Amino acid sequence: MKKKEFIWKHKHLIGLRELSREEIEHILDTAAGFEEISTRSVKKAPVLRGKVVVNLFFEDSTRTRTSFTLAANRLSADVVEFTKKSSSVSKGETLLDTAKNLEAMGIDIVVIRHSAGGAPKFLSRNINACVVNAGDGYCEHPTQGLLDVYTIRKMKHSLQGLKVAIVGDIAHSRVARSNIYALTKLGAEVILVGPPTLMPAKIEQLPVKVSYSLDDVIGQVDVINMLRIQFERMGANPFPSVKEYSHNFGLTVERMQKAKKDILVMHPGPINRGLEIESEVADGPNSVILQQVQNGLAVRMAVLFLVNQGAMVKK
Ligand code: CP
Repeated sequence: MKKKEFIWKHKHLIGLRELSREEIEHILDTAAGFEEISTRSVKKAPVLRGKVVVNLFFEDSTRTRTSFTLAANRLSADVVEFTKKSSSVSKGETLLDTAKNLEAMGIDIVVIRHSAGGAPKFLSRNINACVVNAGDGYCEHPTQGLLDVYTIRKMKHSLQGLKVAIVGDIAHSRVARSNIYALTKLGAEVILVGPPTLMPAKIEQLPVKVSYSLDDVIGQVDVINMLRIQFERMGANPFPSVKEYSHNFGLTVERMQKAKKDILVMHPGPINRGLEIESEVADGPNSVILQQVQNGLAVRMAVLFLVNQGAMVKK
């Protein structure tokens, strides 16, 4: 029987919590179709020709911003780069005024990163353009979650029944939240690992197991996702010393001896080398850290394409 055609209906991507398994799989399948464009000598397809994408970044970024810029370029959209430091935000202009002024110039898709949780949702309710969340506060980083599950699916073929450890600074991590939603919807079991001081409030409401010992968990899991310690988001020190954190929760060559031979080692970047992960492991044979970055491009192409399609369905 012919597979029923899937109609994408969302003109915004705010988070993975609100997406179904079928919708997440549709994004991953769409991304797989876009991978080929990046292998062409002329890396372009006219999919978003005539559309304007604004990268509205109120926080620094290397991977996400560059990846969205390249993704939009490869789909032939025009891209406008906005940074807080060089804009009139420094003169006190609000987020909404900024977005409405950009919208007055005729934009189609806003990709926003903001330190305030809920900023993308707020924008989506107040402007007509499509809104894509590129990371909001501690809430979600949906395209990171998508590229992570895309990478696992590509390497392991399915997520059903896989055990995935997410290790480290869960409390401050929007990456962890988006990963939890995507992984569990796709059938993986998630174990959060870290010191109690880096676990989020209301953890019992998340569909996860929790462990305070990486040594107890490392031998059981198929995938380990090492999170960056986000010193910039912390008030009081959540652990006695960096050395002690590294000793208990760092992914070292020694600790890797206890892991499954085919474990996937992931990290969203940027890496604190020698703190949450040793360089020999980050650059070692089990690491898929640079594949994550590479896959992010196809995933972001898919997201830009689909929200634009969602905007047309809504009309
Ligand atoms: N993973 C990630 O979001 O990296 P950037 O902060 O460099 O975008």
